[in-house]
Formats: sequence, C-alpha cells, structure tokens
Amino acid sequence: MKGVIVYDSVYGNTELVAKMIAARLEAEGHSVRLVRVKDALKERTEGDFLFLGSPTRMGGMTGRMKKFIKGADWDAWGKKPVAAFDTEMDEVIAKDGASAAAKMHDLVRSKGAKVHTPVLKVGVTGVRGPLSLGSEKGIEAYVSEFLSSAAC
Ligand SMILES: Cc1cc2nc3c(=O)[nH]c(=O)nc-3n(C[C@H](O)[C@H](O)[C@H](O)COP(=O)(O)O)c2cc1C
Repeated sequence: MKGVIVYDSVYGNTELVAKMIAARLEAEGHSVRLVRVKDALKERTEGDFLFLGSPTRMGGMTGRMKKFIKGADWDAWGKKPVAAFDTEMDEVIAKDGASAAAKMHDLVRSKGAKVHTPVLKVGVTGVRGPLSLGSEKGIEAYVSEFLSSAAC
C-alpha cells in the first residue's frame, strides 16, 4: 500500500517521528511519501492511508496543520485509514493534557473520516527536544497496531 505522512515541525522532533514512522511502514513492505504540511497545502495528496503529525503548541496543532485538515479532500481520504501523532512535553503526556494529536483526531473525525484510535503521543524532554528515551519502541508498536487494525 502507499502511505502519505503529512507533518509539521519547528525544531525537527516531529519530523524525526515522521521519519521513524516511515521507516517502520517501509519495513512492513509499504511505500511512503513524507510531505511537509506547507508543501501539502500546495498540492493534492493521494494514497491508501494517511498519517498526520504536528508538534503540540498551546495545547493544540499548528495553524498550518489545522488549515491542511480543514481543506483536505475528505471525499477521497474519508474512506481510507487516517492516524494522528504529535510531540509534546513528557509532563503533559503524564497528565493526559491537551494535545495536538487528540485535536487532530477530533477534527479529522468531524470530517467523517476513519481516524484511528488511539492517537500516538511522543514525548520530548524539553521544548526543543530531544525525544524521550524509548520513543522508538512506542512508535514501532503504534505502527504495527495501526497496520493490523487498518488491515493494510
Ligand atoms: C510556543 C510553544 C508552545 C508550546 N506549547 C506546548 C503545549 O501546550 N503542550 C506541550 O506539551 N508542549 C508545548 N510546547 C512544546 C512543544 O510540544 C515542542 O516544542 C515540540 O514537541 C517540538 O516539536 P518540533 O521539534 O517538531 O517543533 C510548546 C512549544 C512552543 C515553542
């Protein structure tokens, strides 16, 4: 199957997660296109499944990601599996605080699409990162679970 990962990232942490997700999907035999959200806003994205990633900022997704989700072709994507992931501070994950991934999930669902539950939240140890220790295992487990439940 062909997957698309549309992501935003300011300091590179969410981009790193996007690349780790892509590597895992490719290891499972899928082909993947990684697209920065600013480019995705200018082109038509097509594929069999979609991952959307954003850093958590002020408890939500970036403005660019919100714009992408609002303007995406949900007639086409709406029938395909969609997953949302973010990066956020470790302490915010620990207390299940407001997150980009949860808001992306809800916004995608409001478009009538089949968004995967749960979302993937990846911790950062500081505002500029790095990713928390052990993030890779959580990312790999999430991708495996997504693929089996989406029957890709
Ligand atoms: C302006 C600003 C607001 C932020 N707000 C939050 C927040 O509400 N919750 C949180 O967990 N992290 C927050 N953070 C930390 C970001 O989640 C962190 O910078 C991000 O995960 C890094 O991802 P990136 O390298 O892809 O930009 C904020 C960071 C900045 C710079």
